[in-house]
Amino acid sequence: MSQTADHKLIRRFSVIVIGLVLLTVVLIFLARSLQLEPDVDANPSKRASAEQRIKPVGGVRVGAQGAAALAETQAATASAQSAVAETDGEQVYNGLCMTCHDAGVADAPIPGSDQMAQRLIEKGIETLVTNAINGINVMPPRGGDPGLTDEQIRAAVEFMLP
Ligand code: HEC
Repeated sequence: MSQTADHKLIRRFSVIVIGLVLLTVVLIFLARSLQLEPDVDANPSKRASAEQRIKPVGGVRVGAQGAAALAETQAATASAQSAVAETDGEQVYNGLCMTCHDAGVADAPIPGSDQMAQRLIEKGIETLVTNAINGINVMPPRGGDPGLTDEQIRAAVEFMLP
């Protein structure tokens, strides 16, 4: 092999090596720009939903700060409840009163029955409402749910009348 042939071979070889290095660099940048998996930390909504999923089920509230937070939650719950306070007698009745009154448990007067008519004649609606609010014998005050308002009880009693 002559010297010129050696030179030619070395030159060609170096061109190929440089070409390969350049190709490698190009491929690296290409791969980076194609990176499809988004960075979770960079996406606030993904991070928030992940934190939502892994957050503890319950929390403990201590001290004055905890008491304040608790009061706030209770106030929010109360206002949410009163906001949806249902004054539809049938709904109130079906939500609670029916557990005893539908089957006449412990002689609870069945709505629309003669027994209910009898009580209405004997006592009048005002007394029936008052007794439903305060309780009478086995009948617990407000049917056992102190959260029910006077209006809700009255509506339920009216629904029960024959
Ligand atoms: C735990 C069972 C129970 C539930 C729940 C219940 N009641 Fe009664 N209720 C009774 C019983 C028992 C009586 C009969 C009491 C008696 O006269 O001795 C009665 C009686 C009544 C009477 C007649 C009172 C009177 O002076 O004669 C009314 C009105 C009444 N209930 C309304 C309601 C309403 C409204 C609800 C739902 C908010 C309700 N009850 C939920 C058991 C229940």
